[in-house]
Amino acid sequence: MKTMKRLSILLALGATVALMPSVSRATIIGGSHDFTSTGGYLTAGTNGVARFKWGGAPTGGTNSYYQNPCQVCHIPHKSQAYATAKAPLWNHKLSANTYVTYDSLGSATYLGGAITLGSSIACLSCHDGSVAINQTSGASGSSTTNSLNGAAVYVPSFAVETLNAGTVASGAGPYVGFNNLTQMHPIGVSYSTAVANGDTELQPVTGILTKMLKGTSQNVECASCHDIHETVGTAGTIPYDHALIQPLEGGTLCLTCHKK
Ligand code: HEC
Ligand code: HEC
Ligand code: HEC
Ligand code: HEC
Repeated sequence: MKTMKRLSILLALGATVALMPSVSRATIIGGSHDFTSTGGYLTAGTNGVARFKWGGAPTGGTNSYYQNPCQVCHIPHKSQAYATAKAPLWNHKLSANTYVTYDSLGSATYLGGAITLGSSIACLSCHDGSVAINQTSGASGSSTTNSLNGAAVYVPSFAVETLNAGTVASGAGPYVGFNNLTQMHPIGVSYSTAVANGDTELQPVTGILTKMLKGTSQNVECASCHDIHETVGTAGTIPYDHALIQPLEGGTLCLTCHKK
């Protein structure tokens, strides 16, 4: 009896711990980009948005589909060309938008040179609101099946990074015309070019900054500030932190790059 009681207290304690908001690192699983039915984000019914079938029609049995959180964005075969998607093994359908980038000519102090969008294109494939979350690139073929998984799901409220150059369609989307990035922090800008052009107020590239800058041109992209995999910076340690790689408190994020 005593043992039973202790056991139930322990069980209750376990349940409480499990229900407490997690302040530990989340990774994709359990993070803001976990679109499986257990992810808690944009779960379509009990099936999740990250629900895939292997090779067209279900092959029978109970495992006719599986949920892979990575596959909404990455696929090991038949991915889109890196040169197009600018993100590795990219599986999400890309936006048809051509973006108007940071108004560098309108800035008297900009030294970053030409803007070439990198992996931000991959983020914008969902975040410009024109493509459904649950829309992958392939229309057919065993690995890429499930071009649109059920009813289309959009993130209209998250298309805020772009100015509304077009019209917001009423209803559930798609949201067209959000292609204007002039009023957000420059992305697709080369840090090393800015330094080479004489920006003496950028920090030396060490520590976490080496992971924030992308590619050999050391580009600043969406993923420089947002750590959606929650593996690099502090993302996932503060509830609802916008998956930021560094905290905003005290300007930490900004001061990682800027000496001000
Ligand atoms: C919502 C879309 C999305 C999901 C879901 C996602 N990724 Fe990514 N991933 C990206 C983007 C965009 C990039 C390129 C930008 C960057 O550097 O973070 C990337 C980059 C990567 C890279 C190469 C860069 C690096 O950090 O090593 C790997 C490996 C990777 N992802 C693995 C995964 C795995 C494994 C999962 C599932 C557990 C996953 N991703 C889920 C969008 C996603
Ligand atoms: C220079 C750093 C930086 C870059 C680059 C950046 N962001 Fe952000 N983003 C932030 C900060 C800081 C916040 C939180 C404060 C705020 O809401 O402005 C934020 C907020 C957000 C939010 C939360 C919704 C909102 O607006 O409140 C989304 C979604 C987002 N960013 C997506 C993106 C995407 C997509 C890109 C690339 C197209 C991007 N960000 C590039 C710093 C950045
Ligand atoms: C497959 C579609 C998809 C892709 C690709 C994608 N996102 Fe998101 N993102 C979403 C959705 C949907 C949400 C809203 C989740 C929610 O709050 O329900 C979101 C939320 C966010 C938020 C807010 C999260 C928070 O905790 O406040 C940020 C920031 C963000 N995304 C940045 C990015 C960045 C940066 C990339 C590229 C590295 C990216 N996203 C790629 C679909 C996507
Ligand atoms: C990953 C590095 C990085 C982060 C983080 C970052 N920036 Fe930047 N930022 C840059 C680079 C590179 C440029 C282009 C520099 C240039 O023109 O010399 C830039 C440009 C700017 C500009 C425009 C400069 C101009 O002359 O037109 C402003 C303003 C700015 N950043 C503010 C911020 C703020 C505020 C934050 C924090 C929310 C921030 N940055 C975070 C790298 C970063």
